[in-house]
Amino acid sequence: MNKNQIIIKMSGVHFSYSEESPILKDLDFEFFKGDKVGIIAPNGSGKTTLFHLIMGLLKPVSGSVEIFGRSMEAEQDFAGIRHRIGLLFQDADDQLFCPTVLEDVSFGPLNMGKSKKKAIEISKRTLDFLGLSAFENRITFKLSGGEKKLVSLATVLSMEPEVLLLDEPLTGLDIKTQTTITRVLKKMNISYIIISHNIEFLEATTSITLTMHNGKIYTDDQVHVHIHDHAHVHGNVPHKH
Ligand SMILES: Nc1ncnc2c1ncn2[C@@H]1O[C@H](COP(=O)(O)OP(=O)(O)O)[C@@H](O)[C@H]1O
Ligand SMILES: [Mg+2]
Repeated sequence: MNKNQIIIKMSGVHFSYSEESPILKDLDFEFFKGDKVGIIAPNGSGKTTLFHLIMGLLKPVSGSVEIFGRSMEAEQDFAGIRHRIGLLFQDADDQLFCPTVLEDVSFGPLNMGKSKKKAIEISKRTLDFLGLSAFENRITFKLSGGEKKLVSLATVLSMEPEVLLLDEPLTGLDIKTQTTITRVLKKMNISYIIISHNIEFLEATTSITLTMHNGKIYTDDQVHVHIHDHAHVHGNVPHKH
């Protein structure tokens, strides 16, 4: 049986922002086409850092990152694959930079060489898909946090990526909008990794939940989170009670 195409392969990745505190330590991770993966782990575990390493926004101190079977080293390696992976930033203000919503959503397709007409057509379709048609001419910086998050998702989807990396997509959204996002994701035939603290959301949208601990990624069967007098992870991770 043919295994699905490998999209992300990280081997022995070390990363730190400063020498004293490594964030990722000897991290291995594989992600295949069709995978729908959830990551749930405490704040500060390195989840966002992981996404930024996959996108080449950060570079590992050591270890290797391969995307779509290609070794990613220089900036131009990432430039060649970035449009195929859509990153929804944890903070929508990192994503949106155009005056109006339609300009922000059509920026990606235009940047990828689509005609203005085609870019606007894709953007309108994407906004419609997310129930955001009425937002086209809204001023981006005046949107609420939740609205910005949704528009950010539109900017990601309008690039028609093959893979989505969603960093806390429900943060700041009301229940109705959270339900919309859940429905939209379930409807999409696309590979994705979702970082979220919402277990029900991950159960509804993903087939496996991973966690991060001590700079590494663990699968369900290695680790599960349980709570008694203190919360910690256990499994194959050595620990004491
Ligand atoms: N730009 C940065 N400079 C220094 N430290 C950072 C920076 N970004 C994140 N960190 C630190 O790295 C750790 C992991 O951060 P992050 O990847 O954002 O975790 P998570 O997304 O799991 O909450 C945290 O302790 C955070 O404070
Ligand atoms: Mg984060």
